[in-house]
Amino acid sequence: MIRRNFIKSSLLSSLVSVIPKMSFTMKKIRTIHVGVGGMGLSDLKDISSHESVEVVGLCDVDSIALEKAAKFFPQAKKFSDYRIMIDEMKDFFDAVVISTPDHMHGPIAIEAMENEKHVYCQKPLSNNISDCREMNKLAEEKKLVTQMGIQVHSFHDYKLATLLIKDGIIGKVDKVRAWSPKNWGYNGKKHKASNSIPNNLDWNLWLGDTKYRDYCDGVYHPMMWRKMKDFGCGTLGDMGVHIFDTPYNALDLDSPVSVKNKCRKPNNYSFPEKNYVEYEFNKTEFTSEKLIWIWEDGKGSPKISKELKLPNNEKLPLQGVMFFGNKGKLLLPHFMESPKLIVENAYKDYDISKYIKSGEIQKNPKKNYEEQSFYHYHEFIDSCLGKSECSAPFSYASKLTETILLGVIAGNFPGKKLNWDRKNGVFLEKEANYFLKKFKREY
Ligand SMILES: NC(=O)c1ccc[n+]([C@@H]2O[C@H](COP(=O)([O-])OP(=O)(O)OC[C@H]3O[C@@H](n4cnc5c(N)ncnc54)[C@H](O)[C@@H]3O)[C@@H](O)[C@H]2O)c1
Repeated sequence: MIRRNFIKSSLLSSLVSVIPKMSFTMKKIRTIHVGVGGMGLSDLKDISSHESVEVVGLCDVDSIALEKAAKFFPQAKKFSDYRIMIDEMKDFFDAVVISTPDHMHGPIAIEAMENEKHVYCQKPLSNNISDCREMNKLAEEKKLVTQMGIQVHSFHDYKLATLLIKDGIIGKVDKVRAWSPKNWGYNGKKHKASNSIPNNLDWNLWLGDTKYRDYCDGVYHPMMWRKMKDFGCGTLGDMGVHIFDTPYNALDLDSPVSVKNKCRKPNNYSFPEKNYVEYEFNKTEFTSEKLIWIWEDGKGSPKISKELKLPNNEKLPLQGVMFFGNKGKLLLPHFMESPKLIVENAYKDYDISKYIKSGEIQKNPKKNYEEQSFYHYHEFIDSCLGKSECSAPFSYASKLTETILLGVIAGNFPGKKLNWDRKNGVFLEKEANYFLKKFKREY
């Protein structure tokens, strides 16, 4: 079905093309890229390393970032407004790669999918639950190929941990603890507007459909938007989406039934410096009657309790996740380290030969980022070509992101347990429903 759609759209595009392209063959996936500075440049490198990719369009609201990326892809057309790029190029591309700050993932993906294009979207899927759900709905309706940019999902150690948990190596899981000491929070004074906006930046386009505010140097662009409400989702949204991914996948979870965040009192402009979030999930095939999930971030995280102590008094990895089951514990460091099985406070070996035999994992994977980072991107391109299937499509990514965002929303009600009605997409505590949607402006 996917393959047929692709061939049909490629044929149509080649027929309507006013300027036939010599380089176009049926085998190429023509990509356009929105947000090409920061992670966007890395996305460009990994996706274009696939032999069937032709980069045809680049868009960035920062002309310095745009020119830098364009040096590597001189044949690609350049834009500052993604709406113009999609409109002008709709007959000449097959897929879009979105690497902008989180607040614009939804609008860009939705516009692309309305034009029948496949989407690779950086994590988290969005900074709000309403966009996540709409993105998933559209992807399913249009039967498009989608993938969220959680590249470690396709790494050896994460796949292995998923297989081990699903095979019951530690029995039924009743608790998961995940942590990161990173801090994408801020509780200082509200920032003052800068005297001017840099010439290289189109601030109106950077804000996109989010509420207007004045430009403040060093506060939003680049990268720092993660700390600010309306744009990012703090540390939980930034790191949680990677570290939550393996347990979410391995335990076959849906949205939680409740969530509580013990963090500082909210302000209305930035995220907490520390989050301690407790989720409760209903039983699945791989859990006991219920599953408790604890996420901790910020300086000093996690607080070392007895259950997190490692054999031989070893130090916990800086970031990671621990699964607790009725037959033992499994530690998955984030990242580039193998999962470790712990039974009665001692490490135990485990056999992975059957997974190697079945081809689910490699025998001796190279344990460095560059050797594995392209897997997830190539999987997306191969799926656009009808040769594979994405492992983190929007149907999965929207649920994972929604779960994380529920914890972010709970940060507005410190210490209060919020109950989530997944089917209707609402909290039972009505005051929390205000945070499900983003305010949208015309721009
Ligand atoms: N998967 C990963 O490991 C990973 C790592 C880092 C970042 N990310 C994700 O990548 C995204 C970008 O993060 P970053 O750290 O690179 O941010 P950044 O601010 O450093 O870079 C974003 C780029 O997008 C451009 N941009 C902003 N709004 C735009 C718009 N409306 N249209 C076109 N271009 C626009 C900016 O000018 C900039 O070049 C985020 O969603 C982030 O969560 C993922």
